[in-house]
Amino acid sequence: MPITINGVDHELDVDPRTSLLDFLRGDAGLTGTKKGCDHGQCGACTVLLNGQRINSCLTLAVMHDGDSVTTIEGLGTPDAPHPLQAAFVRHDGYQCGYCTPGQICSAKAMLDEIAAGWTSYVSDDVAGSPKLSEEEIRERMSGNLCRCGAYSNIVAAIAEVAE
Ligand code: FES
Repeated sequence: MPITINGVDHELDVDPRTSLLDFLRGDAGLTGTKKGCDHGQCGACTVLLNGQRINSCLTLAVMHDGDSVTTIEGLGTPDAPHPLQAAFVRHDGYQCGYCTPGQICSAKAMLDEIAAGWTSYVSDDVAGSPKLSEEEIRERMSGNLCRCGAYSNIVAAIAEVAE
């Protein structure tokens, strides 16, 4: 079976050592997903794998026969951006922008997790509350680093969409 990326099937006819990240950027030509550390530490390569966020540098492409991947290119278009993409623009949720695709994919998965029912990571008081605190967002987004330090604006953008 092929791997489905943003709704399009791709054959996994690659060297079995190819990471999913390199497959996306090279074979599939989807360079929106970024390579930062290539060791699972920065989150720049975050994509959605069957709806869950994953560091695409840490998994092999050939392991995902039949899976569905969504990258930043699959979330929206310049004419019809995803609400998170639009909010990042409104709030200047970036400086250099290198971490932004991973930040947005991670935020999308986080909001989907919360919509499906959640317990707070940081407080016993807000279990079941639809209101995300800044602390909660920061904890849940802690796998995505921003070397420019644009965290305040990133959190503001996510908080706006979460409301
Ligand atoms: Fe994958 Fe940094 S490039 S976590």
